[in-house]
Amino acid sequence: MTPARLPNGEKMRPPPLAALAVIVGVLPAFALQPPAAPEVVAAPRGYVCLRAATPPKVDGRLDDEAWKLAPWTEDFVDIEGAKKPKPRHRTRVKMLWDAEALYVAAEITEPHVWATIDRHDAVIFQDPDFEVFVDPDGDGHLYAELELNARNTTWDLLLTKPYKDGGKAVNAWEIAGLKTAVAVQGTLNDPRDTDTGWTVEVAWPWAGLRELADGAPGQLGPRDGESYRVNFSRVEWDTEVVAGNYVKVKGRPEHNWVWSPQGVIDMHRPERWGRVQFRTAPGTAYTPDIDQRVKDRLHEVYYAQRAYREKHSRYARTAAELGLQGAPQADVAIEATRNTFEATLKPWTIAHDSRLRRE
Ligand SMILES: *[C@@H]1O[C@H](CO)[C@@H](O)[C@H](O)[C@H]1NC(C)=O
Ligand SMILES: *[C@@H]1O[C@H](CO)[C@@H](O)[C@H](O)[C@H]1NC(C)=O
Repeated sequence: MTPARLPNGEKMRPPPLAALAVIVGVLPAFALQPPAAPEVVAAPRGYVCLRAATPPKVDGRLDDEAWKLAPWTEDFVDIEGAKKPKPRHRTRVKMLWDAEALYVAAEITEPHVWATIDRHDAVIFQDPDFEVFVDPDGDGHLYAELELNARNTTWDLLLTKPYKDGGKAVNAWEIAGLKTAVAVQGTLNDPRDTDTGWTVEVAWPWAGLRELADGAPGQLGPRDGESYRVNFSRVEWDTEVVAGNYVKVKGRPEHNWVWSPQGVIDMHRPERWGRVQFRTAPGTAYTPDIDQRVKDRLHEVYYAQRAYREKHSRYARTAAELGLQGAPQADVAIEATRNTFEATLKPWTIAHDSRLRRE
């Protein structure tokens, strides 16, 4: 099953009802198809991001002294998780931070490095790409995405909420002060030899996340011990060589390899992203989110409500009506009308648009 990407370039099932609603000129909230609930296989991945004494030089080469301090993430896996084969090429990432920026280094092993797109804000994943997602406050709304290819061409966009909740990409948004660089270990667009891969360096200034703070005054960027939801993805295409050029094999969908598996072919499930914890002191252990189970439970309610709504044209008013399995149903308090709902499991509340809020 390969959900198409929408014309704006994002991975998601096309919503036929919503398309119809656009034709007749209205888009009621319930016109969106209920999203498939991701398989919750494990806690999202975690990473301790250490403070850099000296920032790495953004030149695409990962030889800076600063990077020696930073551990690699786990190797990327298939977006659907362990039930899919391991990616055929390795991808991994390092992160650092300081008062100015988040620094990302990616190592993308690839025997055939190619890239064609050279126009900023084009749909970069039509080439093999590397993608970064950031949701600073972790509420699953208002998050940023950056894609770049081996030619160092970028696409930055902002999502007010996930596509599955009716969100639309804001392409005009630019990451202020963003620095990116790519180094190719081998030759770009030359199928006559075998390459090692390409490496990426990104400096994403905290000031470039100002829009995501929703106008909140005060300091930008994390404090020691704070965590942001972050994810990384790599798109890979099957190619053949035609007249000396790499050409995509027709009719083959792309591979999506990710740091933290989503359990579904959709990167826009911020609740499944990894958690990056910013630390000043080296050797600090990662502290998992103590509310992870509460948040998972509330997302279970959210996906069940979307399916219920599809069937009954309204949201369920109680957990019993929803037929939730597992933990006691009494644990979740639901307030619902036909078109909206909120479900609370202290201290968190989830709304019909999947936004999480702490009481
Ligand atoms: C990559 O692109 C950025 C922004 O356009 C540019 O400043 C940088 O020099 C480029 N460098 C490399 C090595 O890719
Ligand atoms: C990253 O996103 C992918 C695709 O949505 C998902 O499968 C994976 O779990 C996410 N990983 C992390 C650490 O967030």
